[in-house]
Amino acid sequence: MPRFDAVPEDDFKRGMRRLAAAVNVVSTLEQGRPAGLIATAVCSVSAGPPSLLVCVNRGTRTHGHIVEAGVFCVNVLAADQMPFARQFLARDPAERFSSCRWSTLATGSPALDEAMTNFDCEVSSQFSSGTHDILVGHVVAMRQRESSNPLLYFEGDYRHIAHGETS
Ligand SMILES: Cc1cc2nc3c(=O)[nH]c(=O)nc-3n(C[C@H](O)[C@H](O)[C@H](O)COP(=O)(O)O)c2cc1C
Repeated sequence: MPRFDAVPEDDFKRGMRRLAAAVNVVSTLEQGRPAGLIATAVCSVSAGPPSLLVCVNRGTRTHGHIVEAGVFCVNVLAADQMPFARQFLARDPAERFSSCRWSTLATGSPALDEAMTNFDCEVSSQFSSGTHDILVGHVVAMRQRESSNPLLYFEGDYRHIAHGETS
């Protein structure tokens, strides 16, 4: 039993708008076909063994596909991929994957060629919390490209870093 009452959901959402986050496509396979969603709830867990987590709403189609396939790939988007991020909200999975080049690394999950980084993962644990599942991925392959300007989500919109450093 929790000891304290939760803050109102709207207050929480307003607060979370201030939490700037990197934008990713979490991809997987659905009976051999590409599937995936845009996700900001991605974070590192541990370097030994290399692992990260993604929080996926159990109400999404992608949740079921990841759980079934047991694998996923986190594709970290670059600042110039804002139009692609918007397109990836299309309802039709084929439309989400049509405009870019994809390949595979170890697990067979689609790895976006133009992503800043691809983390190819096997699901190692799964926990439920509220509406979401926390899926921990054991990172079995990686690919990185030169671009170093990430696409961010902040205050309900896509952003990028205007200056490399603060002073
Ligand atoms: C900027 C942004 C971040 C998002 N982050 C997440 C996330 O971390 N986890 C999640 O489950 N859904 C997230 N979503 C929502 C999914 O991308 C969205 O529900 C998607 O349409 C689900 O597709 P599907 O039902 O085909 O799997 C986010 C959406 C946007 C626009």
